Amino acid sequence: MEMSEILRGLSYNEKRLLLALDRIDGTGTPDELEEVGKFDLEVEVMGSASWLSSKGLVIIDEVQSKYYVLADKEITVKGLPERRALSFIASRGGRAEMGELSAELPDGEDRIAVGWLKRKGLADIAKEGEKKILTLTDAGRKTLETKMSDEMLLDKLSSGPVSETEVDERTIRDLKGRQGIIADNVEVKRTISLTEDGKRAIASGIELKEEIAQVTDGIIQSGKWKDAEFRRYDVQTFAPALYPAKKHPLARLGAEVRKLFTEMGFTEIDEEYVQPAFWNLDVLFIPQDHPARDLQDTFYLENPSRIHINDEGLVQKVKEIHETGGDTGSTGWGGKWSRDVAEQALLRTHTTVNTITYVSKHPNPPVKVFSLSRIFRKESIDATHLPEFTQIEGIIIDENGNFDMLISLIREFYSRMGFDQIRIRPAYFPYTEPSLELEVFFNGKWMELGGAGIFRPEVVAPFGVKYPVLAWGFGFERLAMLKWGITDIRDLYISDIDDLKKSPTF
Ligand code: PHE
Repeated sequence: MEMSEILRGLSYNEKRLLLALDRIDGTGTPDELEEVGKFDLEVEVMGSASWLSSKGLVIIDEVQSKYYVLADKEITVKGLPERRALSFIASRGGRAEMGELSAELPDGEDRIAVGWLKRKGLADIAKEGEKKILTLTDAGRKTLETKMSDEMLLDKLSSGPVSETEVDERTIRDLKGRQGIIADNVEVKRTISLTEDGKRAIASGIELKEEIAQVTDGIIQSGKWKDAEFRRYDVQTFAPALYPAKKHPLARLGAEVRKLFTEMGFTEIDEEYVQPAFWNLDVLFIPQDHPARDLQDTFYLENPSRIHINDEGLVQKVKEIHETGGDTGSTGWGGKWSRDVAEQALLRTHTTVNTITYVSKHPNPPVKVFSLSRIFRKESIDATHLPEFTQIEGIIIDENGNFDMLISLIREFYSRMGFDQIRIRPAYFPYTEPSLELEVFFNGKWMELGGAGIFRPEVVAPFGVKYPVLAWGFGFERLAMLKWGITDIRDLYISDIDDLKKSPTF
């Protein structure tokens, strides 16, 4: 970067720091610079210094030094355990029995003392019958008159911190090996100095003018902006990337599913959670005495408890199809179809309600839509069931649509999601023929992932659909389980971040 450009990009505080450095011969500590430059805080000094250093105008030197301090202040008064043991043995004429020493140095200090006496060669220990006898050595006797090196260091520490350069390595290692006697502190000393470029920058003249870093409405309204200097922004300056948050794994997987279908040419659709049984069930040729309608499987609503179906023509067609098959060639379910039952309000039990609603409005090919949305079932909660979950649903209406096309689409989807091991089995749904069920081998057993099929004539006839409607509905949470090897579906909805973090796959 050109010097003139660098100069133009200097902030008010950076200029202040350069001028402060100039006044103290080009080098100083943050403390000194805070004072000379009349900064309010040391962080202002350091912030400006690091910007200046990235521009090559200053260098920041860091010297780390280690200090030792006394952690146990009493030790210098009481003396090290071996010192106390030494005096005690001396008071017994240079020979003492272990039992006596233990009475003098209780709480395990006797053993510590004996360990160090032996290690330092100050006493010998010998067995006499049942007794253990400690005898002072010559070195031990001499030590009665002199201080040991660790004691001298402790004395020094008792009057203040001692730099690591002033201590003998072995002595410090031994003292550190004992618990809680000394601690170490690291101190970082920084010096900020002008570089040659920094000196040139100052020589070229620095004008100190207060700058506005943030435009506020006050500055605009008062007209102050007219005379103000604004802080320049360098949009190319390096700044560290921050990742303060992440999307929930399910939201990420949802985005992946959406991307995949969109790339395959599908458009996303959705409908209301609250539906009349008519659209959720009757239009799909689910008989009115079907177990899925049971209170035990479906959440019926009290408010609204009914949703009126406006389309008389459609109601008549659906009634006929259920009762006699109408002109679809089917015999229907027989019996009487009840409009009352069809107008009950419920929470949708599958997103197939989305696709059939779409078909009713767009009966002609080409149609490729999908939905990724929530459904509700009265399931008891366990490791693979939740009462609210998400379905990946969709349809294709295509002049050449057939069962093979449906199967390859399903395989394609799962293989793009990373799963080639799926099993397709014949199945039954009241609204499709043929129908299939897909499963995947997971956690020791086959887990159902969803169903699919081609809509029956009884379903599509009222809407005048002339071509095959290939339809499917897969479980989204189960896909997530597969993807991350999660064995309990409930883990997907834990809202405790710390718990989530424990899972290695997230
Ligand atoms: N609606 C079915 C379910 O909830 C899945 C399905 C959708 C089956 C479309 C066939 C066709 O399990």
